[in-house]
Amino acid sequence: MPTTRFCETFGVDHPVVQGGMQWVGRAELVAAVAEAGALGFLTALTQPTPEALAEEIARCRELTDKPFGVNLTILPSINPPPYDEYRRAIIESGVKVVETAGFTPEAHLPEFRAHGVKVLHKCTSVRHAVKAEKIGVDGVSIDGFECAGHPGEDDIPGLVLIPAATRRLTVPVIASGGFTDGRGLVAALALGAEGINMGTRFLCTVESPVHRRVKEQIVANSELDTELIFRRLRNTARVASNSVSRKVVGILDDGGEFPDVRDLVAGARGRKVFEDGDLDAGIWSAGLAQGLIDDIPTVGDLVRRIVAEADELITGRLAAACRGD
Ligand SMILES: Cc1cc2nc3c(=O)[nH]c(=O)nc-3n(C[C@H](O)[C@H](O)[C@H](O)COP(=O)(O)O)c2cc1C
Repeated sequence: MPTTRFCETFGVDHPVVQGGMQWVGRAELVAAVAEAGALGFLTALTQPTPEALAEEIARCRELTDKPFGVNLTILPSINPPPYDEYRRAIIESGVKVVETAGFTPEAHLPEFRAHGVKVLHKCTSVRHAVKAEKIGVDGVSIDGFECAGHPGEDDIPGLVLIPAATRRLTVPVIASGGFTDGRGLVAALALGAEGINMGTRFLCTVESPVHRRVKEQIVANSELDTELIFRRLRNTARVASNSVSRKVVGILDDGGEFPDVRDLVAGARGRKVFEDGDLDAGIWSAGLAQGLIDDIPTVGDLVRRIVAEADELITGRLAAACRGD
């Protein structure tokens, strides 16, 4: 069973992470990930208020006594959510691991550190990873171009981005984007990472709190079935291909601006996809990993399968190749 420095630092059995997912990172999924011995993150901004986040943390604790974390996605905006209050809710609830993403977590680090909260910062470039280590995060997740959600603007896939990051960093690095199985975990370890982060794969599990039609669509989709929206606005997001995401790409390609697509990309529409299973109600995040996903397992079966497959690869096929068998 591969264990790494990451497992020690973040207090989990397996080097497998379920990253924050808007509308998806709720107690049912995160508790199942924790029970499986991996590290799951509730998504702070899925909860409408810091008080609701504290309640969700309490609900997750009722479902598991294993450690879990909270994702705090920091998006620069005109009317930002009350980040300091969300941070306070995390700290006061006794959560000891946070995944930050979107923007530098610098403003939040002193408070997290003062309360013994470990910070895993997720970013999409080596320069941001290096900066995160410099300001004192405990680990870095590096998201390659394959990933669901925001891959950044550099378009560097994991095969280059992961070793480019691991050779520059000393804190544990988690490889993210396109991972679904034990082969991916072994590849990530070979590239110098100390574990994998998965979004799309965990979205397509029994405990994922989204409509079954979304999961069946992920199984049906191939690696070709994503769209990159907001490219020209330099705020790229990788989402599942559907009539809405294709329309957004078309409008922006034809010279449209954000106000022309604002209604199409509204969060409430994406939420409807997950809740009602109306796959063309709005945009929803999904990565190239869709092409490697063929089933809807329980989280427990998925994590066990990944770890067993990685183990078998390292001690079986790869060891045999080394011996020249
Ligand atoms: C439905 C969905 C919603 C997501 N929402 C967030 C989010 O709110 N904050 C965040 O940091 N990452 C978010 N992500 C990105 C994941 O945490 C993770 O970094 C990414 O999915 C990794 O790529 P993969 O999907 O290929 O595994 C989301 C991903 C998905 C699939």
